[in-house]
Amino acid sequence: MKHRITLIPGDGIGPEVIDATRRFLDAAGAEIEWEEVEAGSAAMEKYGTPLPDIVLDSIKRNGVALKGPITTPVGEGFSSVNVSLRKQLNLFANVRPISSKYGISLKFQNVDMVIIRENTEDVYAGLEQDIAPGVAQTLKIITTVASDRIAKFAFDYARKEGRKTVHAVHKANIMKKSDGLFLKSCREIAKGYPGIEYKEIIVDNCAMQMVMNPEQFDVLVLTNLYGDIISDLGAGLVGGLGLVPGANYGNNLAVFEAVHGSAPDIAGQNKANPLAVMLSAEQMMRYLGEEHVANHMKHAIIVQLTEKTHLTADMGGSATTGELTDALISEIVQ
Ligand code: NAI
Ligand code: MG
Repeated sequence: MKHRITLIPGDGIGPEVIDATRRFLDAAGAEIEWEEVEAGSAAMEKYGTPLPDIVLDSIKRNGVALKGPITTPVGEGFSSVNVSLRKQLNLFANVRPISSKYGISLKFQNVDMVIIRENTEDVYAGLEQDIAPGVAQTLKIITTVASDRIAKFAFDYARKEGRKTVHAVHKANIMKKSDGLFLKSCREIAKGYPGIEYKEIIVDNCAMQMVMNPEQFDVLVLTNLYGDIISDLGAGLVGGLGLVPGANYGNNLAVFEAVHGSAPDIAGQNKANPLAVMLSAEQMMRYLGEEHVANHMKHAIIVQLTEKTHLTADMGGSATTGELTDALISEIVQ
């Protein structure tokens, strides 16, 4: 079946890894009609806004998008397109599987956790102001509606995927109101899932435990900022940002994107690891019911990561993005 999918190449390494992923999808037999749209600074120049309606309308119409990373100016300029997109489309759940099954991790062999990050509120609500010279304020917004919704998503996910434990990650010892509310939701929702063990962990301890003994974690549910930080920490445990895929889910909408950003330090050099976006695209094909295509992709990736003949520099090899992509394509067994 042919699928119509919105494509946002993004910037920095985005166009390189998205192009590699398109070639890989084609070779794996995916039938896709892409609707390509621009967001970020290129859109800013053209349309006067980094997130034009054209992008939002396209995703609403197609229901599915594949997205490359988009650079956000630091400390000034337009606010994050990535965050606005998630908020405007109400893509409330960000799902990021962190797994050592690809054998790139040097230290850990049995990491297999899924980070479920609330995507619409917390300090990402964009409520910031200068109160007085030398005093700035960012509001942290936590609501019962969003906390219930993400907790329910995490438990439903755990049940569907046959997972055993959900950890709620928080700092409710200090932020008794906001994180306290999040925790209250998690506790309530957990009661409806007696088959799944519910645990709580304070975020700083969680960071330490993840570095010392990440194998203990299964599903983690977190508010937005902790989810962001803990995701990158998790990526570091299993070989880096080049290997960790992601998906943002809302009601009948899904945007697939890697955890990593636009990596300006290596952009335009044909050096970026395309696997994180490819694995996101593999998830996208499963979401669309194209198990067959997804299995071809997964098989080729596992063969390459076992044989390690064409790894990019971040994985300790010397292959270019293009060479790794060619090798993956040659390993697809139709
Ligand atoms: P980053 O994830 O772009 O890069 C962090 C480090 O990981 C860099 O050393 C980079 O070279 C490396 N890296 C990342 N992806 C890689 C890949 N596929 N292959 C090989 N190496 C890779 O994070 P950074 O530098 O903090 O952010 C850069 C820009 O990206 C910022 O403007 C940020 O706002 C944006 N960003 C966008 C995201 C999105 O579009 N969803 C997510 C995260 C950051
Ligand atoms: Mg991040």
